[in-house]
Amino acid sequence: MPWNVNDRLVNRSICSNSYYILCRKKLRSVPFAAKMAKILSDPNRRFLFYTICFCFFTTGVLTLSVHKSSPPCNYSDSGPVKPSIPLISFLERVQETALRSLGDSNFDPKLYVDLSLKFNLSTTEEAFDKLPRSANGSVSARDLQSFIASYLGDAGSDMVIIQPVDFMPEPPGFLPKVENPVVRAWALEVHSLWKNLSRKVADGVKESPELHTLLPLPSPFIIPGSRFREVYYWDSYWVIRGLLASKMHQTAKGVVQNLISLIDKYGYVLNGARAYYNNRSQPPLLSSMVLDIYLRTNDLEFVKKSLPSLVKEHGFWNSGIHKVTIQDAQACTHTLNRYYAMWNKPRPESSTIDKESASKLLNASEKEQFYRQVASTAESGWDFSTRWMRDPSDLTTLATTSILPVDLNAYILKMELDIAFLARIVGEEHTAEVFLEASQARKKAIGSIFWNAKMGQWLDYRLTSSHTCETVHRWGAQNQNEKIFASNFMPLWIELFNSDGPMVKKVMKSFQDSGLLRAAGIATSLTESGQQWDFPNGWAPLQHMIVEGLLRSGSKEAMSLAEDIAVRWIRTSYAAYKKTGTIHEKYDVEACGKIGGGGEYVPQTGFGWTNGVLLAFLEEFGWPHDRKIDCH
Ligand SMILES: *[C@@H]1O[C@H](CO)[C@@H](O)[C@H](O)[C@H]1NC(C)=O
Ligand SMILES: *[C@@H]1O[C@H](CO)[C@@H](O)[C@H](O)[C@H]1NC(C)=O
Ligand SMILES: *[C@@H]1O[C@H](CO)[C@@H](O)[C@H](O)[C@H]1NC(C)=O
Ligand SMILES: *[C@@H]1O[C@H](CO)[C@@H](O)[C@H](O)[C@H]1NC(C)=O
Ligand SMILES: *[C@@H]1O[C@H](CO)[C@@H](O)[C@H](O)[C@H]1NC(C)=O
Repeated sequence: MPWNVNDRLVNRSICSNSYYILCRKKLRSVPFAAKMAKILSDPNRRFLFYTICFCFFTTGVLTLSVHKSSPPCNYSDSGPVKPSIPLISFLERVQETALRSLGDSNFDPKLYVDLSLKFNLSTTEEAFDKLPRSANGSVSARDLQSFIASYLGDAGSDMVIIQPVDFMPEPPGFLPKVENPVVRAWALEVHSLWKNLSRKVADGVKESPELHTLLPLPSPFIIPGSRFREVYYWDSYWVIRGLLASKMHQTAKGVVQNLISLIDKYGYVLNGARAYYNNRSQPPLLSSMVLDIYLRTNDLEFVKKSLPSLVKEHGFWNSGIHKVTIQDAQACTHTLNRYYAMWNKPRPESSTIDKESASKLLNASEKEQFYRQVASTAESGWDFSTRWMRDPSDLTTLATTSILPVDLNAYILKMELDIAFLARIVGEEHTAEVFLEASQARKKAIGSIFWNAKMGQWLDYRLTSSHTCETVHRWGAQNQNEKIFASNFMPLWIELFNSDGPMVKKVMKSFQDSGLLRAAGIATSLTESGQQWDFPNGWAPLQHMIVEGLLRSGSKEAMSLAEDIAVRWIRTSYAAYKKTGTIHEKYDVEACGKIGGGGEYVPQTGFGWTNGVLLAFLEEFGWPHDRKIDCH
């Protein structure tokens, strides 16, 4: 364990002596100190106030002490640019040359950084440099294509398509509540898509990793599909939900083992299993994966093996630049987290696009700051969205690192609760206790910083200065982002919130009045920006978390709303499948059967997390004989 329980106890006793001074000192500096002083003149209220302050402060110190071995907070936006690994730099050159030589119609920059080398880098680079070039540096399409064919392996050729060992065409106990034969037949087709999406890393990658941007992984895995030909972090949670509905427990565990192997090597789960994804993570849902697999399999050994990695991942998120200290309206201090990529250059997989976007920025330091925001937005999973933009029409105003996001903090709260639960069942009482206390502190922080009682939603919080992490930010109501996003309802997914009856009632009313719920599901936002994480796109994971939150509340009204949303989503996916023959990564929720668009690449099919959510919804709600599957 990276923390020491005795230290924590020592710290707590220090806090209990100093909390009074701490709260007093902070109060003096806030504008409503006078008002507070009045409140504090009443002994009963005073007692209550100091009790609250004490409790907030100790949990804060506790969180600090849990991770005191974490790296120092010393990243900077404008520091020296560290070079990529030489292989990536070279493939980016090929990418740029390809854009110049082949033109930008149907150009996907990611394709080029997914190619592998057939010979060593110096031989390959030498051949590339010898290609005849025109005055403007372009290579003829023919020369380039012939170079690529001779020296580089196709994208995806370093993976092997496999049949998962636990795949059965119709597994016993598959979706028992789906009675309608048409829906059942379709569900079996969706189930069979796991075969299309199953891969393992080719032996060549393990033998010569320096020739591949694909990272070696120990177990077979499921890819999302199309241009996403490798494992992705947060996608894997819904892939696993689907695999569990498909009774593919072994494959599901393999997916987790792969992600854990990344934690072992890098200290966190990468955005995806590619060398070029190594400077950012993605919404952290590993603990949810471990928990859900455990709940289906009762495999305690699996939990025991996974737990240390979960604790390590919590340390990654809850330290350094991802961690922000903020003082609430009562002058009590909280710790919350943000997305912050360790990268300030174009994303290699979208390098030509990022450079184009940055071209209107004037100098190198502005560009670096923009690239940092782009990579941090990719870390958020919501790339791109007006949620992160100061000006909804201008991508260069991305300000993701200056935002405390509701969903990220809900995921980390869930991580803390999951770790506490998993630690308890394997008998690690101390870990359980520490993480339970950390979760209580975070629950309070979410209530103080994000909750907006008037709107009945949790709102992202905009930090007014973001460049240093030593600063203690001061909460101000005007810094809550009152725009409507599906993420404003994400805490409902967490039991601590969905078990609170009156709160569920209020949030549900707010959700129904929000305008997000459309004919074919929940829209990502209300802003039509052309970005893919905005209106009118709906994404499977967002449907799933809100539906599951409503469902778990146990309120009859909420459960029926949950089913209504799930039915809309299943119908639209079915209609689009019949029309196009495939499952999509996103849908247009304005009308049943419409597929989504927008963003920096053409819409993708396959599709891991959509398949997973469909199977999870069908498992949960079933489909009665007499309910029609067609759009009305
Ligand atoms: C690359 O391969 C060539 C030809 O096989 C060999 O001569 C050269 O030493 C290799 N370079 C490196 C850096 O391994
Ligand atoms: C570069 O030069 C080639 C050959 O002279 C020409 O066909 C191409 O259009 C030029 N590209 C640009 C971007 O100027
Ligand atoms: C990206 O990550 C690598 C390896 O984890 C690290 O060495 C490098 O400094 C990071 N790059 C930046 C720009 O922070
Ligand atoms: C870059 O441009 C910004 C905005 O115009 C300016 O504030 C900053 O000083 C410039 N930085 C350098 C290094 O020139
Ligand atoms: C899945 O794979 C099968 C067999 O290779 C193929 O016939 C089918 O078209 C694929 N389905 C999709 C949606 O790609």
